[in-house]
Amino acid sequence: MFKAERILIPAEQIQQRVREMANEIEADFQDGPIYIVSILKGAFIFVADLARALKRPCVRIEFMGISSYGSQKTSSGQVKVTRDLDVNIEGQNVLIVEDIIDSGVTLSYLTRLLEQRKPKSLEIATLLDKPERRIQPVRVKYVGFTIPDEFVVGYGLDYAEDYRNLSDLRILDSVSM
Ligand code: PRP
Repeated sequence: MFKAERILIPAEQIQQRVREMANEIEADFQDGPIYIVSILKGAFIFVADLARALKRPCVRIEFMGISSYGSQKTSSGQVKVTRDLDVNIEGQNVLIVEDIIDSGVTLSYLTRLLEQRKPKSLEIATLLDKPERRIQPVRVKYVGFTIPDEFVVGYGLDYAEDYRNLSDLRILDSVSM
């Protein structure tokens, strides 16, 4: 049995950091559209907050579904696109938005895939980064928080589809009955 009672990052701190990240992104991207590529499902809350913190009107929000096979808590290294973009990103400034980078397998694959579509620029923003777990390198430009190797839920992140709705980020602990 699991419980998520330990708060790793409270909601107010997340909101503050998301605003800071939006300011950095706003300053770095020249005028014109930013194509946000949101990776389902975990990034949906982060994207909603980040997009609303961006001031320019021209922010396109697109979605991709990616699945990696393996046990419930770790990625197996095999990645598959379950829902592709329905827009052409050639010549566009693209920002991939993720909730977490763990092994790096998902983003390493996705970056290679999207580069083939010849965007003008391709950057990554992730709310959470767990560098200790990395097995494939990822060139990430915007990181919300670097966190230790704990299983984190809330603010879009799940365990077995639960906990995504929590406003803060919590550590999932296993408890004996
Ligand atoms: C999580 C997260 C990333 C990926 C990161 O997705 O949203 O896409 O794992 O792990 P990696 O760096 O080891 O590849 P998950 O497979 O849990 O799906 P979900 O977002 O739908 O919950």
